[in-house]
Amino acid sequence: MKYQHHLFVCTNQKSGVGSDVAKAIKKELKKQDLKSLLVGGKKRKNRVQTVGCLDVCKQCKKGNGAALVVYPEGVWYGNVQPRDAADIVHQHLGEGQAVGRLVIEK
Ligand code: FES
Repeated sequence: MKYQHHLFVCTNQKSGVGSDVAKAIKKELKKQDLKSLLVGGKKRKNRVQTVGCLDVCKQCKKGNGAALVVYPEGVWYGNVQPRDAADIVHQHLGEGQAVGRLVIEK
């Protein structure tokens, strides 16, 4: 597998918060030095990608944040704000623990 984690962030809100969340996560990946990792001698990336609606709009358009999903775990987050980026990167991508307060059921 090419990616350690692959994140898809919904950018279908009028506010543009999804784009801000994606930018904040990319910034944190650089800051926390988790953009690419050496796993079992192979280089693997944590990739962030913006997408249209992820079909969990209640978690996206009703609050002030964005929905996103992290693979390969298939963990869904809702109402994510740019300020949550540090926790998602550190706790989930770095330590492999989902950020409980943001997890939603798909
Ligand atoms: S608008 Fe974000 S999931 Fe539908």
